[in-house]
Amino acid sequence: MYNGGKIIVGLVVFIALFAFPFYYNIGKAMEKPEPKTDTPAILQWEKEHGKKECVESKEFMRSEHMQLLNDWRDSVVRNGDRIYTNAAGKQFTMSLQNTCMNCHSNKKEFCDKCHNYMAVKPYCWGCHIQPKENKS
Ligand code: HEC
Ligand code: HEC
Ligand code: HEC
Repeated sequence: MYNGGKIIVGLVVFIALFAFPFYYNIGKAMEKPEPKTDTPAILQWEKEHGKKECVESKEFMRSEHMQLLNDWRDSVVRNGDRIYTNAAGKQFTMSLQNTCMNCHSNKKEFCDKCHNYMAVKPYCWGCHIQPKENKS
């Protein structure tokens, strides 16, 4: 009999190679961003407190940071109250520039990466100053 097995194996290999660039790119396009939290201010905080922390838990921040920022703005602009006490009783100054962006000074690698992936574009930076970054 003619060697049908080899032909089939050959076909499978050929299709796999042919399709490779296709599924390789799908993987890339769907890759989730991993926001980096290795800025100098965060590493300093880790040294002093023994762990990396945000103003609230990571899960809370991930889903609620937009609302938290709104609340901070209202509190500062309407009530002149600039002190925020978090769930653990720690206090922070309510400031986008001086608090959030002090720790997350890598806006491009952090905020922007996530927002680009989710296709959101907060309009804050027309008025609030972005952290200075060397990388473009
Ligand atoms: C004291 C430093 C510090 C401050 C201040 C801070 N963050 Fe964070 N933030 C972190 C760290 C560290 C993490 C990662 C926490 C973890 O891994 O448990 C984080 C996580 C987050 C996340 C979730 C990221 C993810 O991977 O899901 C968001 C969103 C975020 N921060 C936004 C903000 C905003 C907005 C503010 C201001 C309201 C702020 N952060 C203030 C240090 C800070
Ligand atoms: C883990 C991913 C992630 C990170 C990191 C992140 N964001 Fe967001 N952000 C989102 C998503 C998703 C939305 C849209 C949420 C929605 O529409 O409900 C959003 C919305 C916002 C909004 C509201 C925008 C609007 O038009 O409604 C603001 C303001 C904002 N982010 C600020 C920040 C800042 C400042 C940082 C960095 C300190 C940051 N975010 C980091 C995911 C992220
Ligand atoms: C039209 C200009 C403008 C835009 C756009 C704007 N802000 Fe503000 N924001 C201000 C002004 C002015 C204050 C009052 C500053 C003060 O009293 O310290 C303020 C105060 C704040 C505060 C509290 C004080 C501080 O220093 O951070 C937060 C938090 C804040 N804004 C968040 C945001 C976020 C988040 C966005 C985008 C979704 C945004 N703002 C867009 C003008 C703006």
